Amino acid sequence: MIDEKCAILRERFDRELALIQDLQALEQLRINFLGRKGALQELMRMIPSVAPEERPRLGQQANELKNSWTQALESKQVELMSQGVVAALGQKRVFDVTLPGHPPALGHQHLITQVVDEIVGIFERMGFAAVEGPEIEEPFYNFDALNIPADHPSRESFDTFFVKKSASDTGTEPDAYLLRSHTSPMQVRYMQKHKPPFRIVVPGRVYRPDAVDASHCFQFHQIEGLVVEPDVTFADLKGLLAFFARGFFGSSTRIRFRPHFFPFTEPSAEMDVGCIFCRGLGCRVCGQKGWLEVLGSGVVHPHVFKAAGYSGKTRGIAFGLGIERIAMLKHGIDDIRCFFENDLRFLHQF
Ligand code: DAH
Repeated sequence: MIDEKCAILRERFDRELALIQDLQALEQLRINFLGRKGALQELMRMIPSVAPEERPRLGQQANELKNSWTQALESKQVELMSQGVVAALGQKRVFDVTLPGHPPALGHQHLITQVVDEIVGIFERMGFAAVEGPEIEEPFYNFDALNIPADHPSRESFDTFFVKKSASDTGTEPDAYLLRSHTSPMQVRYMQKHKPPFRIVVPGRVYRPDAVDASHCFQFHQIEGLVVEPDVTFADLKGLLAFFARGFFGSSTRIRFRPHFFPFTEPSAEMDVGCIFCRGLGCRVCGQKGWLEVLGSGVVHPHVFKAAGYSGKTRGIAFGLGIERIAMLKHGIDDIRCFFENDLRFLHQF
């Protein structure tokens, strides 16, 4: 009778458990079988009414049922809970903490800034200080102080944007301001405020009303250099610029100086480096010359010192170079517009 009763209960529990779909129903099943008024308690209450020799067996069986049901309920609970998590993940967006993350995209300096820093760094090793000047300039500093008087033909080669001082201003020289067309105006500005000896480089933005194409833009960057020391000579200029060229383009870089004309230097020269693409053999980039023009330079003209209020005995050397041009040569970039278009596919390469 006892065995029979237990077998029925066991079978009933298994059947009902198999149908359970959620935690609430599972809890109800626990109450029905293991609760204070549940099937197990009912079985226990039968103990006094069975024959004394049967009582231990009944007790033992009741114990066994209790243990096996408790275990079965627990594993069912775990099963339902994990099913619940999977279902919840299906509804929400899955966030798998074990997947490798996406590294945040780090920004970096623009190539122009990197090249400016590199060039300034090379000159700093030779005792130069970096200074900056205004982009809105007076015609005096951009032209006259640099020995480019109003009627001088070379004024045209420094084509300039003029800025009106007021709405009624006609925007013509000489009262107007202008956007500096080179970094050279900082030569006289600096000399007016400082006593020699000094070595400076002046990086900065300059403007010229050029139509935009692969090698021209209305806005670009230059670095100016000025050394004012008692006995400085053209030989020092060559030495400094050779050091720069080898530091920037590589230690085996060849250089040459060609006579040139700039109003603010006498003598003046342009410096070329051996073409870094064809190693001097002649190619499309160097126009089959084997040389690339990189900068203008010379011995500072006495008129420039005069404009700065310096004595006639002062000696100095100067140079100026275009950042975009030199960056294009070094990195094989064939269009100046790349620097200003902010295309990340370009910027990420440097
Ligand atoms: N200012 C000149 C230009 O924009 C470059 C230059 C040439 C600067 C010779 C100098 C120099 O200081 O000595 O084309």
